[in-house]
Formats: sequence, C-alpha cells, structure tokens
Amino acid sequence: MGSPRWKRLCLLFLAGLAASLVFYGRHYASPGSPSTASRMPQQGEVGLVQAEISQDARGHHLTGERSSLCPWSLKSKVKIEPTFGQQFNFDIPVLIWERHFTPDSWDRLKQRNAPNGWHGLPYSVISSTLKVLNDSANSRLFSTASFPNGCIRCAVVGNGGILNGSRQGKEIDAHDFVFRVNGAVTKGFEKDVGTKTSFFGFTVNTMKNSLIAYAEYGFTQIPQAKDLQYIFIPSHVRDYIMLRAAVLGIAVPEGYDEGDEPQKYFGSEASAGKFKLLHPEFMYYLRERFLRSENIKSQFGHLYMPSTGAIMLLTALHTCDQVSAYGFITENYKKFSAHYYEHEKKPLVFYANHDMLLELELWKNLHQAGFMKLYQR
Ligand SMILES: *[C@@H]1O[C@H](CO)[C@@H](O)[C@H](O)[C@H]1NC(C)=O
Ligand SMILES: *[C@@H]1O[C@H](CO)[C@@H](O)[C@H](O)[C@H]1NC(C)=O
Repeated sequence: MGSPRWKRLCLLFLAGLAASLVFYGRHYASPGSPSTASRMPQQGEVGLVQAEISQDARGHHLTGERSSLCPWSLKSKVKIEPTFGQQFNFDIPVLIWERHFTPDSWDRLKQRNAPNGWHGLPYSVISSTLKVLNDSANSRLFSTASFPNGCIRCAVVGNGGILNGSRQGKEIDAHDFVFRVNGAVTKGFEKDVGTKTSFFGFTVNTMKNSLIAYAEYGFTQIPQAKDLQYIFIPSHVRDYIMLRAAVLGIAVPEGYDEGDEPQKYFGSEASAGKFKLLHPEFMYYLRERFLRSENIKSQFGHLYMPSTGAIMLLTALHTCDQVSAYGFITENYKKFSAHYYEHEKKPLVFYANHDMLLELELWKNLHQAGFMKLYQR
C-alpha cells in the first residue's frame, strides 16, 4: 500500500492520461479568459432535436412510464411553474438502448463530442455496445409497476462534507431508491449517509480514479448488491467499451482499460439488465437547459460537463416523483470539508471541467421552487 501522497500523484497521472480533467482552477478559467467567438445558446437546435427524440421514444412506448397516481409528483408541479416548466422536458429519453440506435440517431449524434454525442467514436464500438443493451430493463431505471398507487421517492447522495455528522442515514435509506456516485463510502459512515444503494453512477474515469484516490478512506470496491444497478455516463469511448464487456461478462478487449475484468468492479453475477447508459441527447439537454456554464467559452470549454453528482441528481429529477438531495453543494460549502469521509478538513477544489457554483445556484433554485428537497445545515 502506498502513502496517500503517492496515491494522489498516481491519480493525477491517470487523470492526465485519460485527458478528461484539466487541473486548472476555476478562478483562472472564466472571468479573465479571452472570450472567443463562441456559439450562443441555440434554443431552436435543442427544441428540434427533442421533437425528433420524443417522437422516437413514443414509437417505442417508452414515455409515460412515470407513476401517474402520485398526487404530488415533480412532473405535475413543474408543469404549472412558469420558469422551470419551460426547462423540463419529461419526454426526452434518459437512457439509450438498442432500439434507439438508428441511422438517424447515428447521423445526429456523430456531430457532437462525447458525452453529448459520438463524434470521432468508431461506429463499430457504438453499434456493438448498443446491440447488447437489448433488454427492456436497459431502457428504464425501474419499473413503475411495483408502485401502483404511490409516489416514487428518491434520495440522491453526493459526497459533500456537509454529510459529516449529519445523522441523515436513516432518512436516506427510507427512500424507495438511493442514488450514489463515485467514491461513495458507506462503511463506517452509516449514521450519516445510510447503507442502501440502488443506483451507482459514474464514468469509467471517475470510477477508477475514485478507487485510487479514496482507497485510504475505505473506498476499495465499487458498491455491489443484488438489486444495485449501474448507470454509465457516456463521457468517452472507454465507457462504451467497458459497458459492453460488463454486459457480456468478458475482459475489456481494447482501449485504455484493455484486459480489465469488469467483474472486479461490478461482481460476477451482474446480469445485463443491471447496466444502464445515459442517452447522449439527455446529456446535451442537461447541459443546455440546466447547466450551461460560461466555462464552455473558455479555452477548456470542450472538457466542460456537469459533475457526476449533478448528472445523477438531474437523472433522478427526470425519473422519480419526489427527490431529496444530500451531500450536494450549498451556499455555506466553505464550512465543510470537500468530502464527508475525509479525516481532516480539505477545501473543495474547483476544476475547469465542472461549474460547481452554477450547480449550487441550480440546487438552491430547485429547492426554493419546491421541486426537490436539498439537505442544508
Ligand atoms: C439480446 O441479444 C442477445 C444476443 O444477440 C440474445 O441472445 C438475447 O436473447 C437478446 N435479449 C432480448 C431480451 O432480446
Ligand atoms: C467531521 O466531524 C467531526 C465531528 O464533528 C469532526 O471532528 C471532524 O473534524 C469532521 N471532519 C472533517 C473532515 O471535517
């Protein structure tokens, strides 16, 4: 076992290799940077694509899965609110699976870079991955059939230091589904963060980096359980390659992770239906409608994407009837350590590939509008 410093260096190295992160403080990134003639928000473009998508989804009977009998569903509340009513589109498919892979979707998505599309990614990788996502379980996070009369209540647990000493564990576990992300250690922190995990969300990069960076805090294994499902964020070609290998139960055949055994991460009994892939169109919609950061205009704009926690929280907001968020950034974030499991207080570091202050604003607004409950103290 190496020292923490060694591990951190190793993490830096890996992150560099993966070329997914730029270790460049936000302070330096946005305000002073020359504003290149960047593309302005293209409202029409988003709208058009969504019209096509929802048509596509209707054709496959994938919409209308949400519980309609829930009297206080987020969906019904959002519809009558002027601002957020314009932002939310509940018809957009959250997950992509085999039936979404058509010549049209290929042509459309190959124009945008990952995670929002397939530009530069080999056709063979995309098609062979989507082909194995052919179980209806791959098309949805959960079946509403088991909730005939009720509201589906979800907790999304970020890893923020605000949870240290929070004693929210019981409340979190009382939800129908619990989402967690990246270095989500629960052992030893049960009173604060609970034990239940229904969905674990990640990119292969964040998953592997978390195993290195947070091993010293006890994150030595990706959460595994019979009812636990994995949500892949399509940030890079390696996510598609790992996902296909995981579904087929074979070693990763090529790329960064060549030779990796997916069982090592997801267990040996992981059935195909456990694996979900976020739709690149959904990723694009989240960025354009909810988290369109000024960072996009910076010199590292091509690396910008919402944080893993933000992607999972927005996923829950588009699939559950009621959502509570724990361990997400709040206005008083400076009072808390970056993560709940750290032994001593560490400041939250802002990287140029995310926009945590924009996320802070969004969670605050969604909480104030009554569309979710944000844990604060
Ligand atoms: C999915 O595809 C595999 C391989 O082509 C096939 O064996 C399996 O039966 C298919 N599953 C469904 C649910 O269609
Ligand atoms: C977590 O909370 C405990 C008890 O309040 C405190 O002693 C400790 O310093 C906190 N850890 C961090 C990383 O802030």
